[in-house]
Amino acid sequence: MPAPARRRRGPPARRGARPRRRRRHDPAHRGRRDRAGGPEARGEVSRAVRERLLGSGPARLPRAADIARCAPYGEDLQLALHLCYELHHRGFAGVPDTLEWDPDLLRVRALLEHRFESALRHDCRHRPDVDEALAVLLMEPVGGTGVSHFLMSSGALWHLREYVALRSVHQLREADPHLWVIPRLRGRAKAAMAAVEYDEYGCGRAERMHSRLYADLMTDLGLDPAYGHHVDAAGAELLAVSNMMSMFGLHRRLRGALVGHFAALETTSPPSASRIAAAMRRTGAGPAAERYYEEHVEADAVHEQVVRRDVVGGLLDDEPDLAPDIALGIAATCLLEDRLGSHVMDAWSRGERPAGTPAPAVRGGGPAVRAGAAIRSGRSVRSGRSVRPVGSVRQVRRCQVRAARRRSARNAAAAAPAAAAAVRRRCRATAVYGERAAASRPNEPWAPWSRPRGPSRGSHRLCGASGRARSPVCCASYPVRAR
Ligand SMILES: [Fe+2]
Ligand SMILES: [Fe+2]
Repeated sequence: MPAPARRRRGPPARRGARPRRRRRHDPAHRGRRDRAGGPEARGEVSRAVRERLLGSGPARLPRAADIARCAPYGEDLQLALHLCYELHHRGFAGVPDTLEWDPDLLRVRALLEHRFESALRHDCRHRPDVDEALAVLLMEPVGGTGVSHFLMSSGALWHLREYVALRSVHQLREADPHLWVIPRLRGRAKAAMAAVEYDEYGCGRAERMHSRLYADLMTDLGLDPAYGHHVDAAGAELLAVSNMMSMFGLHRRLRGALVGHFAALETTSPPSASRIAAAMRRTGAGPAAERYYEEHVEADAVHEQVVRRDVVGGLLDDEPDLAPDIALGIAATCLLEDRLGSHVMDAWSRGERPAGTPAPAVRGGGPAVRAGAAIRSGRSVRSGRSVRPVGSVRQVRRCQVRAARRRSARNAAAAAPAAAAAVRRRCRATAVYGERAAASRPNEPWAPWSRPRGPSRGSHRLCGASGRARSPVCCASYPVRAR
């Protein structure tokens, strides 16, 4: 017996009316379809916290002695901390929202944080002061090494997918933990921080939010962009980076560390984003994959100046005694990012996948992902306007490389008038990013207030005159495009 026809909800459609378009949802903000209680436990402490969240098992929370036995950067402690912090972000399916302020869980979180923070303070005890730390970040060795250098020079598409899947743990909520610091700041630092965060949240446009751009990038790479989907695959090295942001953001006493961490992030972002964007172009990962990193080459070049000059400079003017904490934030970020980079490179050198990404789906994904999936399934691959049977991996790869070259040639042709206009405005070009960009509209909140003396050279990423505020920590400037 056939099933009875379902009654349609709502008024019947008019004859001849166009079918209603389904609203496009933000993939990063899909419903919480993660496993109930979040990721799997990785030890006794994280198991006890997870069972408490689910309301199952004996629900005996770990004692101080249990936590004292945990390695501060280890899997068990970092996952337990992630579970506690996630209650302050989006929570988990099947976990009551009221547990966010559960006194017993907060007590455990404090013990975990004490262990983690003590380790960070100990390992960063020989840190330089703020000026020196930022000056180091503003220089890049010419023959640099690290994940972004590897991806640019020889990374394959699967390396990019791995890296993007790992970073999705915190990038899908990009800027959220940093926002917590705004009520704890005053005056110039507060206004500048709000300005940068406004940009991170897409200047009021949901489709431009950086977390949304990241979800689109994941879709291009054939990865599931659901929030929290890749946490189980992320090791303690990545969770430590993510937990550090939440810890610095949630504590007012650590507002200096949060600002230092943010400054380190924004200062190091443009060159590494530039390298990863090049890797995305080379591998034909797709337009959204390129866009996320290209956006950060430009956006973070501006954010860097605003953060160093007005957020760090403003906070130091306002509360000079926070200087050691700002330096701690910078040093801790460098420490944990270096650990993560070493972990990823070690795994890749052994041919392992640190994020264990699955094979991409045939539907969706950027051109290279679709081509790879088509090859595996023996289907045809779409190349340009024609659909051709798949010959070989090499043949398809050649198609992708040619398409990427054509695309970059088109982009260069489109950018030529803008570059000529920039020259007419007598703005200098920087050689670092391989693009001609200028602060063309000084009334934009993003435009730097100083102009560079000349283009950067060699290993110097920045050069130029002192900034408007003449703050000792903001002594460099270079041309950026007003947004
Ligand atoms: Fe961003
Ligand atoms: Fe940024």
